[in-house]
Parts: sequence; C-alpha cells; structure tokens
Amino acid sequence: MKSKNIRKSFVDYFKSNKHDFIRSSPVVPFDDKTLLFTNAGMNQFKPIFLSSDMSKIKRAVNSQKCIRVSGKHNDLEEVGIDTFHHTFFEMLGNWSFGDYYKEEAIEWAWDLLTNHWGLDKSRLWATVYEKDDDALKIWKKVTDIEPKRILRCGKKYNFWEMGDTGPCGPCSEVHYFIGEDIQKQDPKGVNTSNEYWELWNLVFIQNNRTESGELEDLPLKHVDTGAGLERIAAVLQGKSSNYDTDLFYPIIRSIQEIASSSYEENPVPHRVIADHIRMLSFSIGDGALPSNDGRGYVIRRILRRASRYGKSIGIDKPFLYKLAGTVSDIMSDVYPEVREKLSHIEKVICAEEESFNSTLGRGLIHFENVVKKTSGNIISGSEAFKLYDTYGFPLDLTELMAKEKKMKVNEVGFNNSMRKQKEKAKKSKKFKNSRGVISWEIATSGDDSKFVGYDSLTSMATLRKYHISDGNILLILDNTPFYAESGGQVGDTGTISGTKTKLEVLDVKKEGETFIHICNGRFEKSDTELKCQVNIHHRESVKKNHTATHLVHRALKNVLGEHVHQAGSLVHADYLRFDITHFEKISTDDVLKIERMVNEQILLNTKLHVSVQNFNDAKRAGAEALFGEKYGEKVRVIKVGQYSVELCGGTHVHRTGDIGSFKILEESSLSSGVRRIVAHTGMKAVEQMQNNASILNGLQKMLNTPPNGMIERIENLFRDKKDLEKELKINRSSNENINFIDKAFYINGYQCVVLELEAVNMEELKYIADSIYKRLKSGIAVLFAKGEKKPMATITVSKDLNSLGVSAGIISKDIGALMSGGGGGKPHLATAGGKKNSSIKSVVKKVPSILQNVLSSI
Ligand code: SER
Repeated sequence: MKSKNIRKSFVDYFKSNKHDFIRSSPVVPFDDKTLLFTNAGMNQFKPIFLSSDMSKIKRAVNSQKCIRVSGKHNDLEEVGIDTFHHTFFEMLGNWSFGDYYKEEAIEWAWDLLTNHWGLDKSRLWATVYEKDDDALKIWKKVTDIEPKRILRCGKKYNFWEMGDTGPCGPCSEVHYFIGEDIQKQDPKGVNTSNEYWELWNLVFIQNNRTESGELEDLPLKHVDTGAGLERIAAVLQGKSSNYDTDLFYPIIRSIQEIASSSYEENPVPHRVIADHIRMLSFSIGDGALPSNDGRGYVIRRILRRASRYGKSIGIDKPFLYKLAGTVSDIMSDVYPEVREKLSHIEKVICAEEESFNSTLGRGLIHFENVVKKTSGNIISGSEAFKLYDTYGFPLDLTELMAKEKKMKVNEVGFNNSMRKQKEKAKKSKKFKNSRGVISWEIATSGDDSKFVGYDSLTSMATLRKYHISDGNILLILDNTPFYAESGGQVGDTGTISGTKTKLEVLDVKKEGETFIHICNGRFEKSDTELKCQVNIHHRESVKKNHTATHLVHRALKNVLGEHVHQAGSLVHADYLRFDITHFEKISTDDVLKIERMVNEQILLNTKLHVSVQNFNDAKRAGAEALFGEKYGEKVRVIKVGQYSVELCGGTHVHRTGDIGSFKILEESSLSSGVRRIVAHTGMKAVEQMQNNASILNGLQKMLNTPPNGMIERIENLFRDKKDLEKELKINRSSNENINFIDKAFYINGYQCVVLELEAVNMEELKYIADSIYKRLKSGIAVLFAKGEKKPMATITVSKDLNSLGVSAGIISKDIGALMSGGGGGKPHLATAGGKKNSSIKSVVKKVPSILQNVLSSI
C-alpha cells in the first residue's frame, strides 16, 4: 500500500468513527514557549487538554508533522544508525477530548491494524503501564490478542509526557516484530531490541505536569494516540527499513546520483541525509531559519551534520538544497507548503551550506590533528570549543565524529570554554556601552521614572537625582512625559525648565526601569520643581513612523508570506527602518503592493485600539510577539482594526490617517536572509515623492518625452546604443581581420595600400589607419570609406618616409581634391573628405599614380 493511501485510510477509518479531520499544525510552534518544535500530534490540542471546559470538538484525527531533535523527545542519536528513528516524521493520531476513553482507543487501534491493514497478529505485542490494570483488562476484553503478548512495563516506557511540563498520562503501546524468524520472538526484546518496532502509542491523558514537577489531575480524561506513518508504511510495504519505503527511497536515489559511494556500500550517510533534508525542508518551510541560538541553532546543527555526512560520501559542493525538490515531490500533495516555499527553502539551505562549506574541510583536517595528538580517548573541551568557534562545528557534530573514532568529548570542558567566552564578550560590551558607574547626586527622595507620556506631552516633575559630566546634565525625575529609547523607538527630545533651570533634552535612555534624561543648558540644582515639555513635532513624527512600522510589518507578511519575521527595527523621527527575514530581493512590484497596502490602511483612517492584557490572552488573540523580546505577564497591545495586532510599548498615532502618507525609500540586503526597508511617512514621504517628481521633470526635458513615454524612449536609446556598439565591434573586428599588408603593392620597393573599407565614421577609419601605421614598415596607406553622405579617406605614411620628406598631410590635399573636397593632417596621419560617395571608385584608381609621383621624387 502506498504511503499516501495508508495516511488516507487511517484518516478515513477514524472519520467513519465520527472523528473530525484537523489539519497538521506547523512544525514551528510559534505560540508555545515550552517547545522548540512540534514533537507530537497532541501539541496543538494542549489548550483543550488543560481546559476545564468541554471542547466543541469531541473527536479528532490527523497526520501531524513532527520534529524530535531537542528537549524531552530527541531521537537524533539513533537517526540513520537504525532504520526507523527520524528527526522529522509524520504522526497519525486520533483524539478524544473528554469523550471516549481506553476501551474504544484500544479496540479501534487493534481493528485497524489487524482487520483493515492485515498485520500478522503473531508479530504484534501490546504493552500497558504496570499500574494500569484497566488497560490490561480491556486489551483482553476487546481484542483477540494472545494474552501472553500483553506486557506490563514501567514509567520509562508507558507513562507519556509531552515535555518537562504539560499534559501527560499512562499509555499503552503496540509493537511489531520485524525479524525473519517468527519463532524467535521474546518478550524481553520489546522496548530493547531493534527488531521490535513501536508502531502506535495510545496515551490516556489524565494528568498535567506543573512547573514545580507535580502531577495534577486534569478535569477531564482524554485520549491521545500516535502512530508513526513511516514505520507503518515499512511494515505494510514489506520493508525492514523506513528508508526503503516510498517516503524515503526517491531521496536516497537523488543522493546516490551525486555521491561517490553507493547506498548499499555506505548506508548511514545516505540515510542521515535523507532524514535531515526532510527536517530542514519542513522547518524552514514553516518559517524557521538557521541561526546561532534556540530553534535556529537546531536547524543549523542538523544542516551541518548532513553536510559533513555528504563529505564522507564524496560530495564536496553544496548539495542538500538540491534534494528539497524531491522532498516536495513526495510530500506536497498533503503538505503544499513544501512546494509553495520550495524556492525559499532551497535558497536558505544553499546559503547555509555555502557558509559552512568554507570551513568544513579545514575543520575536518583540524579534527584529525586533534585526534592524533590526543592521548587517551577524550577530546578536550577547549579543542571541541575551537572546532565550534573557529570552524562552526556544533558540539554534537564533534561528538558524533569522536564516536566514530571510539572517542568522547569533554562536554563540561566545552561548556566552560563557552561560558568564559560569553563572559569575556559581556565584559567588553559593558565596557563599550556603559557610561561607567554614575555617581548620582540626590536632590529629593522617593519613587522615580513614572512614565506619563502616553497621555500627555507635558508634566510637572520633581527632580530626584542629577549628575553633571562632560558638559551633559543627566536627570532622573519622579515622573516624566519623555519616552526613553526602547523597542526600536528613539527617545523623546524637548525642554525641562525651572525658575533658573533651562535645559534642552537631547535624548532619554533607560537603565532598568529608570529614565535618564540627557540634557544640555543651564541647570540649578535647587530648582527641584521642573516643567517638562516634549518636543511635539519630534514626537508626532516618531508616532507616525511607529504606527507605520506596524502597518508595513503586516503588509510584508501579506505580500511576501508568513515566513517574514522582524529582525530589527528603528523608529526615528525622520524615517523608519525595518529589517525582516526574507531570502530574496523584494521585487519592485511587491514594493508597490506593500506601499499600496499601507497607504490603504492610512486612508481607512482606522482608530487604534490600545489595551493592556495578559500575555497569553494577547497571544491567543493573534498578537504578533517579536522573537527574542522578553514580555512580562502584562503586555500592551496595539490593534489596528482587523489588520494588525502587535505587542508594543511604543507611542502611536490615534488614527491611521494621522500618518498622512507612506513611501518606501530603499530596499536592500542587510545580510544573508535579512532584507532592510527604509521608509518615510507624513511630510517626509511627500518630500520624497516631490523630489522624485522633480527628477522626472528634468528627465522629461532632457529626453523631450512625456513621462509615460519615457521608459520606451530610454529603452530605445539603450537599444540603439547596443546596436551601434555591436556594429562598431563587427566592423572593427572584420577590419582587424583583414591583413592589409598582404594587400600591399610596391612602388620603388615601398609598400602601398589603397583600399575601400566599411567604416561607420571618420573615427573608425582613423582607428583602422592607426592600426595599419603600427604594422607598416616602410610605405603609404590610403583608406577610403563611404560616410553617411560624403566620402572620407585617411592617409598614413611610415616613419622612414616621413624622415625622407613624404607627408600624409600633403598627399591628403591631392586626394581631397580628387574627391572635390579637401584634406589635411599630420605627416604620419591625415584625413581627406569629398562631396560624393560615388566618386570613391574612380579616385581609388587614381591614387597609385599620385603615390608614384610622391615616391619617385625622393
Ligand atoms: N503523544 C503520544 C506520542 O507522541 C501519542 O501520540 O507518542
């Protein structure tokens, strides 16, 4: 049975038992901080399990994309070494949310496996949690499994937990013996030998593991089952390896085409690569990117591992990206994202491979040297760190390579080196960033830095602390309307004044929760009651740019795709700068679409809705949280109609119409996979448009064409230029190919060349004359060509004849006269012109006698 039919028959079976089909959630669970990757089908249902309310959906079925390379469920070590563990796999699952429980779950699993899929009962085993008498009884009651094939197992195998926290419960598993000799089965092999494959896990979710590690009872009891599609496919297709099924074999075939050793000779690298490319395609397709930490680093590690395995089978160039197409061919009918995002996936993988390839070879040599010089079988932590830091080898890659040499890596030592480097980096950063320890003078005591600037641009404030240094006056106030630089938004400017104090606020920075006003001007410390006034114009401009940043963020996602994430942002009074994860240049068409979308939102003049909510509620409502940002329990949520919702502490316009207008100034590449946009709003955008218009005006005058004909005009000019260049090149090269000297005749032993050629203009004819001059040992060359209307000629005289008094300038006059025109020039090169192109033929005939005269007189 083909894997796609297996997947379908599973879903259909449970649909016929009143289950709703729910599509796979992405492998990147952006909304669950406890997980790097979706590791089980139940992840997307976690909120239902934890809720005390009855779910609207009672039964569900799906096939879920899962990744198991980090956290509690990590199969990486086994991948490729055995034939049935994977970093990425599909989990077929059925669920009951407070509806049916153990009995139906067991009965249906057995029915589907044995009656519908026809698996051999004498190869199947069932396990139950050792304390779960109910499950044991049910197996005996609702199935015809031989009782001796039901085993009780401990917590390690039969109590399933999603992660360190979350829903969990006892489980019952179905295992399948894949060995040749059916007689050689032994209950001890279940869970321990590679001949017994766990096919299906039925979890009876009844507990929640809390942060403190306690198990609490859930209000309702649920069923969560998971069956690995790849293993079922292998069993139903009669294979003893998942890699021989139709889910993997096309990938293995594509690898074999580029590898120097065959799959049969060297299976592990082929298997690992086939496995890893699936993980890479799906994680990148779902919006993750390789990076130096968290989820991104897991992707980087997997990719580097696969690259290195590639090298071990003779592949030296980036190649993984070429396999993504095969993954898409196999999977895209069920998961269209791997086809839709294929070009993005290929680009990300290729760029990452290229960057690792530059150090991979040297790193492998270094590793061999380290192995040679290591006495004993432990590679030191500092060497492993060097491999990481200099050659980009993730620790687990070094460990894997060490294992192949029967060695280990000192992990503690590695972590120590890593810690030391981080501390060093932190110290130097501190040294660079800090103003040093500020010794504050206390003016008054009490709380400080209450921010009142969302609602007001002025306030009366009491001076709490001050510090005078390097001409700057730093102030801390009890309250302030000044926004301190944060979340990418610059600090406010304005004035602070008292009876004698007259200060200009240049900037405001935050240290922890404290707002430090950096000022210039006259300061009197006894002036403790101060009037703060934010520069309204500055604040208004910043507000426009900040709200526009939210609008453009959404527009970028809408136009380019949901893989786009904010990689950096600067909200300035004069412009906004926004960096995003995206792998290719944003096309001019897309830039226009994005501008249009933002301007449409501006014209809708939507009122912004600002609220303070619990983080989880805000996330549930779809608020965009930024990677790497730390959010507290309470968050400020900025909502623009149904168009955009973001968590943000910045200052914003009241209505989108206040932004006035929006125009992108530039789009550029910041680094591999990151694009930068700079844009203007309000009057700045208008100025930008006016500026563009005046450039257009200038061009219009220069080209003498109205704006709508301009592109065509310039295209024509370019085409003409290209044609002329081509023509010139052909003439030059065809003229250059003529061996003029061969065409020479001799008068008194001197070489004479008289020819009519093709030349576009006098410049070209002179160019040819010059090239003859260089080759003419002793003689005279007279070249003719038809001009646009009138004939033209060049006369060249060799150096030795010049010294004997023969001058091209003088000859040119005679030739010019023959063409009813004139001539002139230097002794070695002169030109002549005439009236009619048609005269050339007869003149050419007369030239030898002119030359005869000249040469006879010397
Ligand atoms: N959640 C269980 C597992 O992952 C059953 O799907 O094994």
